[in-house]
Formats: sequence, structure tokens, C-alpha cells
Amino acid sequence: MPRTRRRRDARNAVALLIEDHRRLQKLFKDFDRLDRADEEARIEIVETACAELKLHTILEEEIFYPAVRSKAAPEDADSLAEAAIEHEVAEMLIDRLGETEPGDPDYAALFKVLSGYVRQHIKEEERTLFPRARKMNGLDLEELCMAMLARRDQLLAAAESANEALEGELTEADPANAPKENAGVHRARSVR
Ligand SMILES: [Fe+2]
Ligand SMILES: [Fe+2]
Repeated sequence: MPRTRRRRDARNAVALLIEDHRRLQKLFKDFDRLDRADEEARIEIVETACAELKLHTILEEEIFYPAVRSKAAPEDADSLAEAAIEHEVAEMLIDRLGETEPGDPDYAALFKVLSGYVRQHIKEEERTLFPRARKMNGLDLEELCMAMLARRDQLLAAAESANEALEGELTEADPANAPKENAGVHRARSVR
């Protein structure tokens, strides 16, 4: 089961996004502390963080940001535009990571750049945008939370069936590739 499946504690959209931020920050810290030689652990963290980040960005871009934009004051326009561009840059780095072999020296470098960038983006969201969203008239954060949880479930279910289909194809091509029970297969790149 992907580690992106989780408890549903948050009842409002901002709290839900902050929960995501904390998990991402923990993954970045875990990566910083890893022994460079432990390639398997590095891959696990990179794939989990990229999957988490993709899901988080989709929820923000499809649901949270459009709702905030619709209620925002004109002076919020710049920070909303900056955040959207930052999401694009993060996605670009995730795509490059997806094309880079874990043995390539750029693999760790790309992840370090991505994590530094996202750490800064998280700070800006939590300092500026989230406090404003909490005060916006007519922005129903509980309703937005429900919509984001429903979309997250949909994306996770789609990722799981894509993984199952891929496992089926691999097994057909070579039965030695059959997944072992409870193998906990996790593929970051199939979330979208
Ligand atoms: Fe964001
Ligand atoms: Fe965020």
C-alpha cells in the first residue's frame, strides 16, 4: 500500500495542506540524514516524496488555489501567480528526477535542489497565503477539505490500478517479476 494513503485527521483545507507540508519536511530531513551508500533507502524517500508532492500540488492547483483566487483581494494576485509558477518549476524537477537513474550523480543533486525549493515554497504559503485564506469571506475551508480528500482518493485509486496493470504486464513478460505478497510496491511516477 502506498505511504500516501493516510489518516484523515484534518477537517479544513489549510490544516490538510499543512499536514502534507509536515510529511514532506520530514522526508527531506530523513534524506539529509541518510548514509550516501544506502541507495535503496534514498530511492524509497525520493519516490515517496515525489508522489506526495505530486498529489499535494494537484490538490492545490485543481481545488485550493482556484477557490482562493475567486475570493482573493487584488493585492493577493502577485503571490498567487508566484506560487503557481513555483509549482511548475517543482514539477519540472520531479520530471527530471523521473528520467534520471538513481546511480547518476545528478539524482541526489536534483532531489536536494527540489527539497530546498519546496521548503522555501512551503514557508511562503504558510506565512502569506494560508493566513489570508483563513480570513477570506465566503471561503468554505471545510467544504474544500472534503473536495480535496475525495480527489486524493480518486488519484490514489487510479495510481493503484496503474501499478497493478504494470505488474500484470511485467509478470506476463517474465513470471520472475511477479510481485511478492506484501511487497509494498511504490511507484512515484504513476500518481498522475
Ligand atoms: Fe504549493
Ligand atoms: Fe503547499
